[in-house]
Amino acid sequence: MDESGNPTGRRILLVEDDIDLRQALEEALVENGHEVVTASDGALGLEKMRRFHPDVVVLDLMMPKLDGWQFRVAQRQEPAIADTPVVVISASDTPAALAVNADLYVRKPFDADTLVHAIDGVVNAHERKANFARVAQTERLAALGTLAAGLAHEINNPLTYVLIELAHAMKLLDTIATDENRGVIDQVKSLTRTALDGAERISGVTRAIRSFSRPDDRGLVPIDVRGPLEAAIRLVAHDVKLRAKLTTHFETFPMVIANEGGLGQVFLNLLTNAVQAIPEGNPEDNEIRVVAGVDSAGGLSIEIADSGEGIPVHLQQRIFEPFFSTKPVGHGTGLGLSISHSIIRSFGGSLTVTSDPGRGSTFRIRLPPISSQPS
Ligand SMILES: Nc1ncnc2c1ncn2[C@@H]1O[C@H](COP(=O)(O)OP(=O)(O)OP(=O)(O)O)[C@@H](O)[C@H]1O
Ligand SMILES: [Mg+2]
Repeated sequence: MDESGNPTGRRILLVEDDIDLRQALEEALVENGHEVVTASDGALGLEKMRRFHPDVVVLDLMMPKLDGWQFRVAQRQEPAIADTPVVVISASDTPAALAVNADLYVRKPFDADTLVHAIDGVVNAHERKANFARVAQTERLAALGTLAAGLAHEINNPLTYVLIELAHAMKLLDTIATDENRGVIDQVKSLTRTALDGAERISGVTRAIRSFSRPDDRGLVPIDVRGPLEAAIRLVAHDVKLRAKLTTHFETFPMVIANEGGLGQVFLNLLTNAVQAIPEGNPEDNEIRVVAGVDSAGGLSIEIADSGEGIPVHLQQRIFEPFFSTKPVGHGTGLGLSISHSIIRSFGGSLTVTSDPGRGSTFRIRLPPISSQPS
């Protein structure tokens, strides 16, 4: 940190084919407290960007293999690196140079101080923008949760009398049945039963929404996890059908100390991620498998495994960071796993992942048995 509290050491990727310029810039940046990785052409630069996750890229335009423009096109197609800011070093500010659409241009010739200042300015602006987006996103989510809870509440009132009246109508139908009208009565009973089934399903959904949007107001109690797990499975069942077979293997559910709403939220997040990892269209060739049993310590172990796209090794730890998402803007907030992780930790458990890129991922929840909880 400097005196004004700004972090000084940035992670910088320097992509420049001119060896003398590259070495001079690297030296100057390292001298200013930055961590620098270099690449001598665009293709190598892209590869290092995926592994090194720099705060900023300093990019030359005219390079062998992949030039600056091609580098930017490829970068923007990969959600994990698309937003990293880029400072372009260029000899001119012609429309062609500007077409690379960088965060900032530094004209050659320049001195090291100019570049160091440019980098600071760009990274600070990028961080301010990201913070603003984060706050806005969190507020939006909180508002959505309140809206969902309010909606569920409003639906529940009329739904209650729909359920009561339909059940009542079923009973009345029995009392007015005679030998002559038996056929019609049976028909009406079957229609009423279908309506009753539908109303019960709506009731299950509103119950789930209410518990997911208010996960923390029930405290920690002994829980049989089968209930919230099955509720979450029901909620995603429709989306799963288009993509995979859903299989469950439930051995036993040792009781754990937890919160039903929180658990429901975790299961829903993990199942939704599993669904989103598998493209629509080949349900016969794909599987989402949910396994519940006892782990070696006598606690509960739940695995949610999918045969989806998998997670590249270098991202496997980052996926638990808040706001980390590889999904296109508007499709993922990147909060699902970080929230799930903190919920499970608050129950004294762990949430881990193993993944085989291209073949699938397995998320594993472990919760300690009741007897091992401090009293
Ligand atoms: N089962 C999975 N298969 C492949 N990648 C996954 C899986 N689960 C999570 N990921 C990766 O982890 C990232 C973070 O997941 P997380 O659930 O936190 O956020 P998200 O799904 O992107 O957005 P949100 O859950 O907030 O809508 C995802 O964008 C994806 O790259
Ligand atoms: Mg998610």
